[in-house]
Amino acid sequence: MSSAILLRPATCASVTTTTAATIVSAKTTFSGLLAAPGFHRNRTCTTICCSMDGGGAMPAAHIGGFLSKKRYDPPLWASHLRPVPSHTFSLGHLPTPIHRWNLPNLPEDTELWIKRDDLSGMQLSGNKVRKLEFLMADAVASGADCVITVGGIQSNHCRATAVAARYLNLDCYLILRTSKVLADRDPGLIGNLLVERLVGAHIDLVSKEEYAKIGSVTLADLLKKKLMDQGRKPYVIPVGGSNSLGTWGYIEAIREVEQQIHNSCGEFQFDDIVVACGSGGTIAGLSLGSRLSSLKAKVHAFSVCDDPTYFYNFVQGLIDGLEAGFDSHAIIDIQDAKGLGYAMNTAEELQFVKDVAAATGVVLDPVYSGKAAYGMLRDMTDNPTKWKKRKVLFVHTGGLLGLYDKVEQMTSLVGNWQKLEIEESIPRKDGTGKMF
Ligand SMILES: Cc1ncc(COP(=O)(O)O)c(C=O)c1O
Repeated sequence: MSSAILLRPATCASVTTTTAATIVSAKTTFSGLLAAPGFHRNRTCTTICCSMDGGGAMPAAHIGGFLSKKRYDPPLWASHLRPVPSHTFSLGHLPTPIHRWNLPNLPEDTELWIKRDDLSGMQLSGNKVRKLEFLMADAVASGADCVITVGGIQSNHCRATAVAARYLNLDCYLILRTSKVLADRDPGLIGNLLVERLVGAHIDLVSKEEYAKIGSVTLADLLKKKLMDQGRKPYVIPVGGSNSLGTWGYIEAIREVEQQIHNSCGEFQFDDIVVACGSGGTIAGLSLGSRLSSLKAKVHAFSVCDDPTYFYNFVQGLIDGLEAGFDSHAIIDIQDAKGLGYAMNTAEELQFVKDVAAATGVVLDPVYSGKAAYGMLRDMTDNPTKWKKRKVLFVHTGGLLGLYDKVEQMTSLVGNWQKLEIEESIPRKDGTGKMF
């Protein structure tokens, strides 16, 4: 579809009202899916969010819970997968909420919900935190004193890894890909770079050409060897944290959704899950979890970089690495949403991000969730019957710091401002003598 997806103003977003909540009192067991004490059941189900206990949940529920190491017990429906990780670190603020997302221009009878994984934390945020809970536990268990990972210059994964490493007292080495002309210059402090540099990550820049020629695995190995020669014990985390171990992060997310559904509406069911795909680990976990659990929702991935064929093969490798026994084609639908290319946006896509924010208050990142939501609405516009009467869960995977890289392009899109007119004679009323 060539035409831009433009949203009508906020008036067309019908807001479902939230009714009084009732408190459900019941015991929580992690596998038993019982409602948690203090959980607020919302009768109209505009929000699904709950307290949970057990693996991955409620890290901040007790003092010292956040950042603590925990034994990992997989959901029963995933207990046959191999290998099963033994531990995780509580790094995310989980569970993340699910609420109605009244995007304008949805097809008739399509019900859209959004899982706010962008709220899984601030510096250590988005989808990466779920993978890192497993990967960092493995790094610490292996006796590493530092981690190495690789990504684009505004990689959210690299920023999240840098923060997680600092929390766990590991050094972090990042190999960041940038353009040839910028590869031997100070990368600056925009977006993710500011956080990475504040937490003291070591940054090595490579050009896109070098990256394409050598590949991320060899680049990480080169740095690993260099660090080992210096007596260090590095642990390599692959691009995007996407390996079979990281896949457990989104298998766990499915358990979280399953439990949220059970705790709130009981009979409620999602038909589809929609998410961005960049390195493949998120969709591998979601699709495998959805198929194995009671969810059985169809996972639709919108690829923001490589082609669908690449991702079907890549995901196949990840789920084979867990001895899952599924064909990736049978459990995911992958569509191309890369548009101009990775991290590049058309004016329409940026306008879409702006319109979604203005209509719903949800700020998408332009590189991942923005393209996925744009692709989803395009598909809904092109194939309305495919989405009719479906209950769709869109997973917002975060990445908001990357938005700062688009400031120049977005300047013309954002709201107006003006200098407040103030008459000189107007006296001050509050706190005379106080500066502000
Ligand atoms: C904000 C954000 N959303 C989505 C993705 C895609 O997830 P995955 O790499 O697991 O495919 C990434 C990373 O690639 C990301 O940083």
